[in-house]
Amino acid sequence: QRTVVVTGAASGIGATTASLLRSRGDRVIGVDLRDVDVCADLSTAAGRSAAVAGVAELVGPDALDGLVTCAGLSRAGAPQVSVNYFGTVDLVLGLQPLLARSAAPRVALVSSISSTQPHDPALVEACLAGTEATALELAEAAVADGRPHEIYASTKAALNRWLRRAAVSPEFAGAGIAVNAVAPGVVLTPMTEELVSNPQWKSVMDAAVPMPLNGYAPPEAIAHALLWLLAPENTHMAGQVVFVDGGAEALTVAVGV
Ligand code: NAI
Repeated sequence: QRTVVVTGAASGIGATTASLLRSRGDRVIGVDLRDVDVCADLSTAAGRSAAVAGVAELVGPDALDGLVTCAGLSRAGAPQVSVNYFGTVDLVLGLQPLLARSAAPRVALVSSISSTQPHDPALVEACLAGTEATALELAEAAVADGRPHEIYASTKAALNRWLRRAAVSPEFAGAGIAVNAVAPGVVLTPMTEELVSNPQWKSVMDAAVPMPLNGYAPPEAIAHALLWLLAPENTHMAGQVVFVDGGAEALTVAVGV
């Protein structure tokens, strides 16, 4: 039996991932604001420390075999910086010592197709530098300038870059911990309910994220990819962002052919 922490386990992709893991016999420790094993607010440093302490207590002297970070916010605003980026990175770093005890430790982050869309380079750099206060100021400026959509894209672009560095570091690759991400296209969860039901927003989204293969994804499509990244069989993938997006990245990102 493997023990896996799932953040954002109360809803959407996280809830589906947790239930698939449980159905195959794994032990899941859910982290979210409510209705889970460890209730913590990942938007604050104190909440992230409490989440790490809560998980450590439940794991005890055993190992943590996997971590999936699904907690995230789509409502444009500065809190996206704290939850999507710092709430992810601080949890991965905080749980590294427990993961290092496992014989086959795996980390799977949840990025987004939005990571390929226009973002704010200064905000990305502030995230990567670990300066949350500066990143929050830049996010507030993006809201004030009428560029609030750049915040989400920036947090996910920063995650992609952070994971490439972390995955090959002594703390992760050196400890046998595989770190990768899934970048979904549009997934039908509570996060996107409002977007897809408003014809105007839907047409903007469909233009930005065209999904020629099978259209919008059910959360299971993302969860199964996350499960593979978590599996002991995934021995050699490191620092990769796997787009599970119905072809949106292939269709929209120029590859210089
Ligand atoms: P969701 O809204 O259904 O679930 C997100 C979960 O994160 C919720 O349970 C929420 O309580 C939790 N969360 C939010 N703020 C938190 C905080 N401060 N502390 C602790 N937990 C907190 O959303 P969904 O769709 O399942 O999204 C999961 C991940 O997938 C997110 O990172 C999102 O950015 C990403 N994603 C989703 C896409 C979609 O179309 N639904 C597309 C691309 C990426």
